[in-house]
Amino acid sequence: MQRDRFSSRLGFILAAAGSAVGLGNIWKFPFEVGQGGGAAFVFIYLIFCFVLCFPVMVAEIAIGRKAQLNPVGAFKALGYSNWVFIGYLGVICGVLILSFYNVVAAWAFGYFIDILFGHFLSGEIAFNEFVSDYIKIGAYSILFMGGTAFIISRGITEGIEKAAKIIMPLLLIMILILIIYALTLPNAIEGIKFYIIPDFTQITGKVIYSALGQAFFSLSLGMGAIITYGSYFSKDSNIIHSAIAITLMDVGVAFLAGFMIFPFVFYQGIETTGGAGLIFMTLPRVFEALGPQLGIIIGSLFFLLLSFAALTSTISLLEVPTAYLVDEKKIPRKTATWIAAIIVFIIGVPSLLSNGAIESLTHFVTLKGAGEKSFMDFIGLIANDTFLPLGGFLLSIFVSYVWKKENLNKEIALGTDGSSGNWVEGYVDIALTYICPLLLGAMFTITVLDNFFGISLLNRVLS
Ligand code: TRP
Repeated sequence: MQRDRFSSRLGFILAAAGSAVGLGNIWKFPFEVGQGGGAAFVFIYLIFCFVLCFPVMVAEIAIGRKAQLNPVGAFKALGYSNWVFIGYLGVICGVLILSFYNVVAAWAFGYFIDILFGHFLSGEIAFNEFVSDYIKIGAYSILFMGGTAFIISRGITEGIEKAAKIIMPLLLIMILILIIYALTLPNAIEGIKFYIIPDFTQITGKVIYSALGQAFFSLSLGMGAIITYGSYFSKDSNIIHSAIAITLMDVGVAFLAGFMIFPFVFYQGIETTGGAGLIFMTLPRVFEALGPQLGIIIGSLFFLLLSFAALTSTISLLEVPTAYLVDEKKIPRKTATWIAAIIVFIIGVPSLLSNGAIESLTHFVTLKGAGEKSFMDFIGLIANDTFLPLGGFLLSIFVSYVWKKENLNKEIALGTDGSSGNWVEGYVDIALTYICPLLLGAMFTITVLDNFFGISLLNRVLS
C-alpha cells in the first residue's frame, strides 16, 4: 500500500509546527522565563533554538524522509540495525511524555470548561482541588486522548494535516486577540520590560540548562516525532527551508505568548516566579479580576488556546507509537491508533492520580538531588529531561559519525535546485558533529548527576 503523505510542503510545516507549538510554548515557556530572570532566559533560549535545535531538526527530517518509516524501522532501513535502540528509546519516550502531557492538556481543557461556566478556579487551593479530582480529570483525559486518536486514525492528509491547517491559524488569531487585550491593561509596560530587556547578570548555569531543555522540548526533538513526520514528507521539498520555517513558527509563538502572559501577570502585581502554577493558579486570578463577563471571555479564550495548542502536540506524540505499530507490526492504522491511545492512557493513570488523589503517588519518590517528586514529575524527569537529550545526543552521533554527512547532504539536496552546499548546510554538518553531541551529552550528564546522585555540576561550575 502506498504510504500516506502530507499533501504539500505547507501541510508538513504546519503539522510539524503544530507538534512543536504546545503546552511547552504557552504554559512552560513563560514560567521558565519568570523563574530564569526574564529576557536573559529568552535570549539564551533563542540562541539554542537556532544553534542547537535547528540542526537536529534537519537531521530528524532527513532520516525520516530517507527511510520512509517510523523511528524503529528507520534505522533498520538505513542499514544500521545496531542503532535501532535509538528508535525504541524514542517510541518509549513518546509514550511516556504523552502519558502525562495528556493530563496537563486535560487540566487546560477542564479550566476552559469551568471558566466558561463562571468558575475561575483562581489560586492554589482551587487548583489543588481541581487536579486531585481524578474522576473529572480522568474524563477530560479520555476525551482529549480520544480526540487525538480520532484525528490520527483518519490518516496523515485527512487527519493530521487537516487538523493542523485548521488549528494553527486559529491559534494565531486567539493569541493576537489576547495580546492586544493584555497590552491595554495597566502596568502592561512593566511586564513587557521584564520580558524583553535582558539583565545579563541573571544568567546562571541553571538558566542556561533550563533554556537548553526548554528549546529542545519545545521543538519536539529527540524522540523521533519529527523523524516520523519526515517520513510523510515529499522527496522534492526543501528540508532546510522547512526546518527554518518550523523553528521560526515555534519560537514566534513562544515569544508571542510572553507578550500576553507578562502584562497579565504584572497587571495583578503577581510574582513572576510562580513556577508551574503561573498559568493555572495565577492567571485565573487575573481573569477573575477582569469581572464576570470580560473575565469569562478572556479566560476561556486563553484556556481554549492552550487546549488547541496541546492538541496538535498530542497528535504528534501519539503518531510515533502508531506509526511503529503500523509499519513494524503491520496493524491497520485505525486499530493501531486506538491500541496506542489505550496503552498510553493506561500508563498515564498513575500520573493522573499523582496530584493529590493518591498519597503514595503524590509523594512518589525522594531522589538524592531532585528531592521529592510526584509520579507525574518523576516521569517528566525521566522522559523530558533525561531521555530527550540522550536521544538527541545519540541521534547526532549517529548522523555525523555513522550514517555520515554525505548521506545526510544527499537527502537534503533532493529538495533543492541543486544549489546545495551553502553555508547553512555547512553549519548543520558542523553542529551535528561537534556542537550537538557536546551540548546534549552535557545536558544528559548534568541531569543524571544532579537529580539522581545529588552531584550538582551546575552549582559548582556555572553559577
Ligand atoms: N513540543 C511540544 C510542546 O512544546 C511537546 C511535544 C510534542 C514534544 N511532541 C514532542 C516534545 C516530541 C518532545 C518530543 O509542548
